[in-house]
Amino acid sequence: MKKKVGVVGYGGMGQWHVCSIAGTTYLNAIDFNESDVCEVIAIYDIDPAKNEKARKDGYKAYDTLEEFLSDKDIEIVVIATPNDVHESIAIAAMEAGKHVICEKPVTMSCEALENMIAASEKHRRRFSVHQNRRYDDYFVGMKKISEDGTIGDIISIESRVHGDHGIPGDWRKTVEKGGGMLYDWGVHMIDQQLWMLGYDVESVYARFDYLTGAPVDDGCFIDIKLRSGKNLHVEICTYNFIQLPLMYMRGTTGTAMVGSWQDPIHITRCTAFADDDNIRPAKTANGLSKTMAPRTDRSMESYVELLPQVDVHNYYRNFCDAIDGKCEQLVTHDQMRVVMKVIMAAFESAKTNTVVKF
Ligand SMILES: NC(=O)c1ccc[n+]([C@@H]2O[C@H](COP(=O)([O-])OP(=O)(O)OC[C@H]3O[C@@H](n4cnc5c(N)ncnc54)[C@H](O)[C@@H]3O)[C@@H](O)[C@H]2O)c1
Repeated sequence: MKKKVGVVGYGGMGQWHVCSIAGTTYLNAIDFNESDVCEVIAIYDIDPAKNEKARKDGYKAYDTLEEFLSDKDIEIVVIATPNDVHESIAIAAMEAGKHVICEKPVTMSCEALENMIAASEKHRRRFSVHQNRRYDDYFVGMKKISEDGTIGDIISIESRVHGDHGIPGDWRKTVEKGGGMLYDWGVHMIDQQLWMLGYDVESVYARFDYLTGAPVDDGCFIDIKLRSGKNLHVEICTYNFIQLPLMYMRGTTGTAMVGSWQDPIHITRCTAFADDDNIRPAKTANGLSKTMAPRTDRSMESYVELLPQVDVHNYYRNFCDAIDGKCEQLVTHDQMRVVMKVIMAAFESAKTNTVVKF
């Protein structure tokens, strides 16, 4: 039987959850198939106009959080509100006996996260964060390349999301509600990279952009060093009119890169590193460089891999199976703790212009 979901917050992402579960069209742009594991039965939004819309869309909508949480049929509460109220709503929902999927960032401090985890343990309810970008096709493809050893052992990863419209919306531009690009996109990229290469964080260095006049970061650049020696770089910008590659990964025997969300994965493997016969130096306007000489296909091969097929329902399938005790939940509490600690370290680093050691 499908598990019954109630959604708190019927804005952009709340409606995304509802459409993706119901199998309807989201914003005239994405057509979803119906979920095979859950169904949405109720909505609550603090804005009466959003509740009215939910009713018009065919859902039961409640006027207060208390009434919504006292609906005995709701098993899973999905929280898709601005970030400052994730903690209080999640704790109230778990107290009311509901399992909780919280939108990212799960909350805005390590202390708040510990309160949420404590509620999950006390009430024995599943609690996780919607790190849906673990299932993005380009990321799944790059993770597989890292695990297969296609380009040897991974040395470093860089992930970039570059836009040029500034920060959208209203609450995303405010400090109190948890706006800014570190909380918005940074959390996805940090989560992806740690999940791929490990949670053994040694240090974090970050700097922020404030180019559009917002009081929050409208761009962030984060360097994470792992104890294993691997280096991670995350970059989110809203003021870049030429974009750099979405993901770039160096290994001991090659390099893999995804240019943009529409691109396949480009892989170059070095087949004979020391093969320096017939090197033809690179020519610049005012000199030559043997160091930067291009390789020929005698010592390297390049090819393109299509992105894997992914299924938007996998996140919910995992969460529902975890409720039934059939598997571990995809995003664990310990993983959330490290990601939150990295975010806090990035805020501190950007403020003090120092490397923050773990
Ligand atoms: N995982 C993803 O890919 C992804 C994408 C976008 C947004 N998000 C996350 O989803 C959350 C919502 O973002 P959004 O873009 O949908 O914002 P939004 O502004 O479009 O929608 C937020 C909704 O929450 C409602 N709301 C505000 N306070 C509330 C409260 N106390 N109780 C009930 N409802 C309340 C608002 O009225 C609004 O309808 C954020 O945490 C954001 O980071 C995640």
